[in-house]
Amino acid sequence: MPRAGGFFAALGPCPDSRPRSARDAGPGRVAIRDAHEADLEQIAAIWNHEVLCTDATTDTEPRDQVAQSEWLARHTESYPAIVAVAAEDVVAYGSLSPYQPRRAFARTVEDSVYVKRGRRGTGLGSLILAELIRRAGVLGHHSMLARITAKNAASLRLHERHGFYRVGVERESAFKLGRWHDVTIMQRHLDEIRWT
Ligand SMILES: CC(C)(COP(=O)(O)OP(=O)(O)OC[C@H]1O[C@@H](n2cnc3c(N)ncnc32)[C@H](O)[C@@H]1OP(=O)(O)O)[C@@H](O)C(=O)NCCC(=O)NCCS
Repeated sequence: MPRAGGFFAALGPCPDSRPRSARDAGPGRVAIRDAHEADLEQIAAIWNHEVLCTDATTDTEPRDQVAQSEWLARHTESYPAIVAVAAEDVVAYGSLSPYQPRRAFARTVEDSVYVKRGRRGTGLGSLILAELIRRAGVLGHHSMLARITAKNAASLRLHERHGFYRVGVERESAFKLGRWHDVTIMQRHLDEIRWT
């Protein structure tokens, strides 16, 4: 049986996930750094809630400790995983992944940004995405894409704010939580920030 907290903190009844935080409060004192093994339990708690309870991701499999370690191992130097930390708390995280496994797509990366419930709407998503864009440029990637369930207003706005534009919509390509979802594809090119 999974234990109540830790990697399986999201299992059980899904709590109310409506945004509650005031944007005016700002993100507070946070440090952005590479994700480490010691962060994985908190990352999994953020991620597993979205997997099980929301359509923010079309993934449907929660990660246990092994799967979460494998996730970190996949995020090599070219495809970093980062966290925003306030005191000892992981309050947000993000990562870059190859957009497709085929070699021709190696320099086209997909981003992922997740903010802890209760800390949303305070600028943390922006901090993480800005750092992912900066790193992607420095690492020599060519463009970034985001695949966003079409009703995810916060993520659409976040990406738009950071220079992403809509390149298309997949109609009803994902089925989750009992219904079909459109997926919006957004992209931004990185050449202009490669050497900054
Ligand atoms: C999407 C998410 C990463 C955004 O991060 P955040 O810290 O809440 O967003 P920020 O405070 O940095 O705000 C970024 C922009 O989005 C807007 N925004 C934030 N929440 C919003 C909401 N619920 N509806 C509409 N716009 C919203 C902000 O106003 C801001 O735009 P502005 O600068 O023009 O005012 C966060 O809400 C989250 O983790 N959601 C659940 C997981 C998820 O959807 N991840 C993305 C998967 S594609």
